[in-house]
Amino acid sequence: MNTLNRQYLLAHRPEGPLRESDFEYREASVPTPGPGEVLTRTLYLSLDPANRVWMGPLPTYRPPIGLGEVMAGFTLNEVVESKDARFRPGDLVECQGGWQDYAVLPADALYKVAPRGPLSHRLSVLGVPGQTAYFGLLEVGRIRAGETVVVSAAAGAVGSITGQLAKLHGCRVIGIAGGPEKCHWLTTELGFDAALDYRAEDFPQRLAAACPEGVDLYFDNVGGAVFQAALFQMKPHGRIVCCGSVSIYDTDTPPPRLLGVPGLLTLRRLRMEGFIVFDFHDRRKQAEQALAGWVAEGRLKVREDIIDGLQNAPRALMGLLHGANIGKRMIRVAPEPSGKP
Ligand SMILES: NC(=O)c1ccc[n+]([C@@H]2O[C@H](COP(=O)([O-])OP(=O)(O)OC[C@H]3O[C@@H](n4cnc5c(N)ncnc54)[C@H](OP(=O)(O)O)[C@@H]3O)[C@@H](O)[C@H]2O)c1
Repeated sequence: MNTLNRQYLLAHRPEGPLRESDFEYREASVPTPGPGEVLTRTLYLSLDPANRVWMGPLPTYRPPIGLGEVMAGFTLNEVVESKDARFRPGDLVECQGGWQDYAVLPADALYKVAPRGPLSHRLSVLGVPGQTAYFGLLEVGRIRAGETVVVSAAAGAVGSITGQLAKLHGCRVIGIAGGPEKCHWLTTELGFDAALDYRAEDFPQRLAAACPEGVDLYFDNVGGAVFQAALFQMKPHGRIVCCGSVSIYDTDTPPPRLLGVPGLLTLRRLRMEGFIVFDFHDRRKQAEQALAGWVAEGRLKVREDIIDGLQNAPRALMGLLHGANIGKRMIRVAPEPSGKP
């Protein structure tokens, strides 16, 4: 085992777009677990738009990351040493190991996983993005066959799975994404009925033309101008699932005031509901089972954007926030254990 623990810490609270200097690199020694604790080694580090929000000063569903603390992040780790009877060296665990090679964590904070398919799927289709798409669409959105569903950030981790699940459930699906390459992928590879580039000047008109009868469900991953355009296309009694607002995470400029909130919600009797995937944590196995089944049957495609090396994490997160990824972006921190079945 290595004796060096590479870490990235939060050096500054970002002002405006994230910069590499907002992070500090440090080499520490590998920590030792105490009673009830487990030493783990990071295999994959998930990069999530929410990481940027956690770097700010305001609490979300978790407290802000403290200045000088290890940058927080969801990870897939391997147990190295355990002081808890439930875990043994070699076990694979999902946890919040953060931006570092090794983390000592309380055993209660670990979720043991059996390898099923590629290990990286634990952070994509079976992990937070897949679970968010599954519960957001089926439980919060309550989609029905035949409905028109619009998904934003559609070529990203959550959006690409959300759109495919809506297709699987018999909906007509329109994806919104940045640029022709992403839009082409959505229609040719993932089976979306249409895909629109929100950067086009006439995007609101194109969206209206793509949904001549209006939108039953808008799955909003971005907020801002895209939300604004979708809002005006909603059918009476339509639903909006508020999953995230990535368009405003990496800026200090307040978003422009939205037109039609709350007036249009009233006029069109719309329902708008937010959720956090952890609300459904006790049912995660149900989602895992369903998602893994669709993947195995070839009905759900998984695209991952895996970048090698912890040293690339700061730049990779900066890119994610501005659309450099297709599919789920993550960092391979260490090679997969050779004992993997
Ligand atoms: N509620 C929950 O529990 C939960 C859980 C996980 C994620 N989320 C939310 O879901 C959303 C997607 O997360 P993800 O992990 O799947 O990330 P992702 O979609 O893989 O990556 C973020 C994407 O956002 C798009 N984007 C960036 N700026 C934009 C802008 N100004 N307007 C429109 N699109 C923009 C970029 O794609 P383009 O090239 O298309 O611009 C980028 O690829 C985020 O808002 C995240 O916070 C919520």
